[in-house]
Amino acid sequence: MAWWLPIFSLVLSLLAADHAVSSGKIPSYVSPCKRDSDDLNQCIANVWEALRPKMGEGIPKLKIPPLEPFLLPETNIDRRSDSLDVKATLTQLAIMGVNNVVFSKLNVNLTDLKGSVSLAFADLNVTTLYVMDAMLMKIIPMKGQGKFNGTIKDVKVNMTGKAELSPKNERGRSYLKLVEIKFKGFIGDATGRLVDTTQNPENSIFAETANMFYDNNRREVLDVLTPFIEEFCESLFLGVANQILSTLPFEEMFIETAPKNPPPPPPL
Ligand SMILES: *[C@@H]1O[C@H](CO)[C@@H](O)[C@H](O)[C@H]1NC(C)=O
Ligand SMILES: *[C@@H]1O[C@H](CO)[C@@H](O)[C@H](O)[C@H]1NC(C)=O
Ligand SMILES: *[C@@H]1O[C@H](CO)[C@@H](O)[C@H](O)[C@H]1NC(C)=O
Ligand SMILES: *[C@@H]1O[C@H](CO)[C@@H](O)[C@H](O)[C@H]1NC(C)=O
Repeated sequence: MAWWLPIFSLVLSLLAADHAVSSGKIPSYVSPCKRDSDDLNQCIANVWEALRPKMGEGIPKLKIPPLEPFLLPETNIDRRSDSLDVKATLTQLAIMGVNNVVFSKLNVNLTDLKGSVSLAFADLNVTTLYVMDAMLMKIIPMKGQGKFNGTIKDVKVNMTGKAELSPKNERGRSYLKLVEIKFKGFIGDATGRLVDTTQNPENSIFAETANMFYDNNRREVLDVLTPFIEEFCESLFLGVANQILSTLPFEEMFIETAPKNPPPPPPL
């Protein structure tokens, strides 16, 4: 008589199951955070700490690239301002120390999807090959081709960001996308060397002159470079973060709190 009942309930349970089924993206060693938890920020910090030991090598499933070292095969820089006019191609850029980042003042708001955090790095070692045609502070030409290595010390960054949440797709999942990110940074100190590799005496002189100028004007040059580095890191971070977020359903990152009348706990 009620032949349709089992079918109806099967459909219902399939629908419910589909809602509950996870994409399996969140690794088992991470406990997702409850959306309205009082200690959401602490929970997010805990998630990071759970992921940190794996971040050095990267987590392909979450599209997290290896952080130790962080590698950029090639990047082009083309900026024009009074303080720095530069056209450069960096290849094999490697940054060591990224995964030692120390977080503080994490503040994430899931209502307006805004957040802020302070980051600190004790030291970052950077090596890269470069092809460059630049003018620093209108007086120092930096021209040629070679390699650079350096150590950046005591880096502090205040980061703010804003995200948007996509509409739910047919599987009931929505995704965060960072739409705005702002880095405000301070570099305590840095040492480094440009080494020309063209064997062209003129280029060697450019590199040595730039090195000497830097050694004698560290603070001024760092203050000039900081906004460029901030901008560079903003676009880098935005790209990597959105690559990660595009694989992680919001519903699985931040789980909804259980309904008001939870079922009784199972007997012990
Ligand atoms: C950076 O290089 C210095 C000197 O070679 C080293 O002592 C330090 O441990 C390195 N730091 C990182 C994060 O690789
Ligand atoms: C989150 O943002 C909303 C909207 O701006 C605001 O009303 C709320 O107080 C914020 N929550 C926290 C915990 O700051
Ligand atoms: C750059 O590398 C050389 C040797 O390869 C090393 O002696 C020097 O300490 C390095 N400089 C920085 C600032 O890391
Ligand atoms: C970060 O913000 C704090 C205050 O919230 C400020 O004291 C500090 O100077 C800022 N740091 C940078 C690098 O802008």
